[in-house]
Parts: sequence; structure tokens; C-alpha cells
Amino acid sequence: MYTSKIVGLGKFLPDNVVTNQDLTKIMDTSNEWIVERTGIEERRHIKKGDGNSTSSMGVKAAKIALERAGINAKQIDLILFATLSPDYYMPGSGVLVQDLLNIPTCPAMDIRNQCSGFVYSLATADQFIKTGMYKNILIIGSEVHSGALDMSTKGRNISVIFGDGAGAAVVTRSNVKKSEILSSHLHSEGQHAEELSMIGPNTLRWVPQIISENDPNDLSYYPYMNGQAVFKNAVMRFSEVINAGLEHNNLEVEDISLLIPHQANLRISQFIQRKFGLREGQVYNNIMRYGNTTAASIPIALTEAWEEGKLKDGDLIVLAAFGAGFTWGSNIIRW
Ligand code: ACO
Repeated sequence: MYTSKIVGLGKFLPDNVVTNQDLTKIMDTSNEWIVERTGIEERRHIKKGDGNSTSSMGVKAAKIALERAGINAKQIDLILFATLSPDYYMPGSGVLVQDLLNIPTCPAMDIRNQCSGFVYSLATADQFIKTGMYKNILIIGSEVHSGALDMSTKGRNISVIFGDGAGAAVVTRSNVKKSEILSSHLHSEGQHAEELSMIGPNTLRWVPQIISENDPNDLSYYPYMNGQAVFKNAVMRFSEVINAGLEHNNLEVEDISLLIPHQANLRISQFIQRKFGLREGQVYNNIMRYGNTTAASIPIALTEAWEEGKLKDGDLIVLAAFGAGFTWGSNIIRW
């Protein structure tokens, strides 16, 4: 049986930095509130006319990952595109990437698992490689949140958290048992679907109806989050799914070289760090600089960790995510 490994990583963040101070000029908030509750100091937002979109940012990250992997785009057998903010309602963004990378034809699949999108994509890539169906798979996590956030005081509990950005990974068939994706654990619990959601417009209440209702109090086309329910479930599910991954591989917490959690909220990551008794340097956090970039957060963090020399051969790397759905999952990687 084949194994799979990550051989190239890349990231792209738009230039436009939006600090907490900038947000205080457009809504009633403060740097202190945001830093204390979320750890976020700044995030990136695309700007009208800067040429950035969910797919184009994904392509910029992908080109870096492909170059570092030493793999030509035409050698890619499958594109997995994780996002909750695709360029269009349809078609998905994966096909746009296939076109922008000038790959003549190849399968392209959008993975709609929000903050867990990258973990789900890596598990999917690993399975396609293990069965021998594909050899080289490009995974992209990319999000443009800024266009769909309520930047008034009404939306402040959510809009201060999210940022734009993209990350990419090239996963390939490997025969080296020492360096591989060891396992993935994936879950969902749809009874909480609306706790973190954007429910309007939807197929039962499409745009013309929303326009005809002309209800100034209708906020259904902005994201909604029950922050406390998310916090409670996140810390529980992160812990469970990390433990499941370790147990499956007969590993202990002490074996973890680096935990890269989805960058949901610094307080969630710190809670997990304390719960597992991990040292400061054993958990990677960059939410301070980029905010929560949903499906892009893990590939961006993984890329930065690699760029900083924090992923060494033989290290045990744990990826874990929790997000809307609710969905959650982990990947255990021997680097
Ligand atoms: N600036 C200033 N005040 C604010 C802001 C803001 N940006 N947002 C909310 N407030 C106010 C509220 O209006 C409220 O004021 P009130 O008491 O006068 O009514 C007060 O702060 C508390 O509001 P809550 O919504 O109850 O805030 P809470 O203490 O729950 O903190 C937070 C909100 C930080 C989101 C918290 O619930 C949390 O950490 N949740 C975890 C969820 C999370 O981080 N999700 C990230 C994205 S989802 C994901 O990636 C899985």
C-alpha cells in the first residue's frame, strides 16, 4: 500500500492590513476587547480592485507550494479546494484554479467543511493516494471573508474575528514509511448547524424574495455565531479528536513535536495547550496577525511553521480543527 506526504507548502495574504485600531473607526469596539477575547491584533482584507479573489489567492499560494514541491501544475492529478467563501455560488472554486493554473483537465472538488476544510481535504487526499488512484494532489484552503461581514457595530462579535488569506499544500505518493500522514479522524454533528452559519440567501429563500421583503432588520445574509456554544463545543471536540489520533497510533502527548490547531481564537488554542500540558513552543499560533481565516488557517500556519524551520524530518505534527457544521477532525503526520 502507498503512503502520502506533504512535499510543498505555500501561502498568500493580501497586503491590506486592518488593525484593531482601524476597526474602532467604523464600529464600537476596542483593541483591548478584541485582544483579550480573541488574541487577534490585525487581519488582512482584500481591497476592491487589487485583483484578489478566493480562487486567485488560492492560485498564488498553490504556485509557491508547487515550486517548493518541484512539481509542475500539469502533474497534478486532483485539486481539492476547501472554502466557505467560494467565488461563486456555483460552480465551485476548484475548477477556476484548474483553469488559472493552465492544467488542461483534471478533477477538481470543493470541500465545504468550513474551518475543518483543510483537515478533511488532507484526509481525502491521503485516501486517494493510498488506494493508488492519484499520485499528486493539490490542496488549497482559501477564504475571502471581508466581503460578507457586517462591519457595523451590530456585527462586531463576528466581524473582528475573520480575515482573508490562502494556503496550499502539495501531497504526493511516498514509499518512505518514515515520513507520512499516519491517520485522520473526521466528525460532524449537524444538530448544531445553525450555531455558526449564514442561512440567507438559501434555496428556499432566494435573492429576489429577500429583496422584495425589504426588511432592514434582516441580518440573515451575514454570518451568525453563538460564540459561547462554539467555544464550549470547540474545546471539547479539539481535545477528543487529538486524543483519538494519538491513541490510534499508540502515541502520547509527549510525542507531539508541534500542534497546529485551526486558528479559531487564541483563547481556544491556549485552553487546549493547558489541557494537554503542552509547552509554549509546542502549539503554533499566528491568529494575532491574520485573524481567523477558516479553511486557510491551517495551511497558512503550516507554511509559516515550515518557513520558520519548525517542521523537521521525523517530527510528529498534529493538525486539528473545529468549525461550522459542527465539523471537526485531526491529521497525525510523521514529517
Ligand atoms: N467589541 C466590543 N464589544 C463587543 C464586541 C466587540 N467586537 N463583540 C461583542 N461585544 C460585546 C457584546 O455586545 C456584549 O455586550 P453586552 O454585555 O453589553 O451585551 C459583550 O461584549 C459580551 O458579548 P458576547 O457575545 O457574550 O461575548 P463573549 O464574552 O461570548 O465573547 C467571543 C465573544 C469572543 C466570540 C466568545 O464567545 C468566544 O471566544 N467564542 C468562541 C468562538 C470563536 O472564537 N469563534 C471563532 C470563529 S468560529 C471557528 O473558527 C470555529
